Amino acid sequence: MEPFEILCGITAVVLVLYYFFTSTFDFWKSRGVPGPRPIPALGNFKDVMLNKISVGDYLTEIYNAYENEPLIGIFARKTPILIVKDLDIIKDILIKDFTKFADRGFPILEKADPLSQHLFFLESKRWRPLRMKLSPAFTSGKLKEMFALMSECADHLIQYMDKVTNTGKPVECRVLTAKYTTDVIGNCVFGIEMNALSDEDSEFRKMGREVFNPSWIEILRIRVRQIFPWFYNMLFGYFLPQTKITKFFIRVIVENMDYRETNNIIRNDFIDILRELKKHPDKLDGIDPTDSLIASQAFVFFLAGFETSSTTISNVLYELALNQEVQDKLRKEIDEIYATHGGDLIYDNIKKMNYLDMVFKETLRKYPPGTTIMRQSTSSYTFEGTKVSIPKDQKVWIPIYAIHRDPNIYPKPDVFDPERFNDEAVQSRHSMSYLPFGDGPRNCIGARFAIYQSKLGITKIIRNYKVEPCEKTPIPYVNDPKAFVLTPKGGMHLKIIKINRI
Ligand code: HEM
Repeated sequence: MEPFEILCGITAVVLVLYYFFTSTFDFWKSRGVPGPRPIPALGNFKDVMLNKISVGDYLTEIYNAYENEPLIGIFARKTPILIVKDLDIIKDILIKDFTKFADRGFPILEKADPLSQHLFFLESKRWRPLRMKLSPAFTSGKLKEMFALMSECADHLIQYMDKVTNTGKPVECRVLTAKYTTDVIGNCVFGIEMNALSDEDSEFRKMGREVFNPSWIEILRIRVRQIFPWFYNMLFGYFLPQTKITKFFIRVIVENMDYRETNNIIRNDFIDILRELKKHPDKLDGIDPTDSLIASQAFVFFLAGFETSSTTISNVLYELALNQEVQDKLRKEIDEIYATHGGDLIYDNIKKMNYLDMVFKETLRKYPPGTTIMRQSTSSYTFEGTKVSIPKDQKVWIPIYAIHRDPNIYPKPDVFDPERFNDEAVQSRHSMSYLPFGDGPRNCIGARFAIYQSKLGITKIIRNYKVEPCEKTPIPYVNDPKAFVLTPKGGMHLKIIKINRI
């Protein structure tokens, strides 16, 4: 072949690839939606893909750059994504017109990733009946029944902290709090003693760490899944063995259900709800409750259940360490509540602590573990008050981290001020300006459980310990670009000092 022909061939390939990667790039322009200029093959996510910046931080940059725009158009590689800033439009998406935005738009790869068939990912047809059946796992009655077990886990945490803090060395708080929330979810939701506090190497902790601190190989796998889902599905579905995590969860859940069945054990908990689904598939509107579909629900409840809450507890401790007057005020409220019950804590008392509630909410404002709420349209749609129309299957993202740090909504957003959540301040804001648990029918199913387990843990820690910053405390707080949920880079090291009560 002549050099000229080779050159022509290469040029043709480059042109075809260029056309392929840029063919959608006029999508937002043609709809009159502004946005940053995408680059071929990577769209607007170059720095996110290279782990240089977290998604939350990146969307905040865009949110601030298009100050007066209700909608911004971006591209993940070549897929158009709509970022919604306008709070009224957000309300339409999450609540008023929910039926038109009932999906999240994640690919479900049943062969390659059998555990991807869970509530968070499922398309609306399978999601709806499952959500209805799983919701009773966290009613307030159920929470009340769990109180004794949860409280026991918190006491174990304090005993454990007594051991690790008596050396006087700074402590990595995220490790502590993850052990506590793993124990709570294990005992209260799965009826399994996970022993995360006593056993550093319990299998559940190992699996949790593996998912949330992915290795480079794991990150590569995730990127291949995002970019070439068909290739990924073929490779992992037919040629490569299931991952350790998949095998582990399916085995543990199936064994647990079988054990209860054989020994006639009934605990009326989440696992029993799953057993019922398996026994009565007719109640699932034609969905087949395979072992992997059932294990997927347990998988997502475990993962969503421990990491989000443990990060939140350690973020509360961080802000309390940096804001000693807030810590003193909170401890005063806790001590008063204990005093009303002879030095004991009962279920209703957690709900009575207003200042704790404000501290907790302000922490989730500054650090919402899920920085973005995702929806996908189920039909074409025109946003009210605009001329912007989107087709079916359009991805729509709500940048909650950016909204929570918008100075027009929360003046001086970097300041930690629990008073932002007194009744009057809350009333004065738009209901969509605070969304740590999302909103509407597809909001966080575990919100009540999360709030309760976190507040209980915080109460017991602050009653027993004073927290202070140390040399290794991350100041300022930098978001880890590698992490799925908002996490401080380098861990959360604090000085923890025992309070000796007479
Ligand atoms: C501080 C703790 C937590 C935070 C901040 C949090 C946040 C969120 C957010 C933002 C969503 C998406 C909501 C939306 O799209 O509107 C979500 C969904 C979800 N969360 Fe949580 N979550 C927490 C704890 C939990 C716990 C403890 C569980 C379970 C035990 C849980 C299970 C789920 C599930 C299954 C979904 C998907 C719900 C659905 O699609 O129907 N989360 N969570």
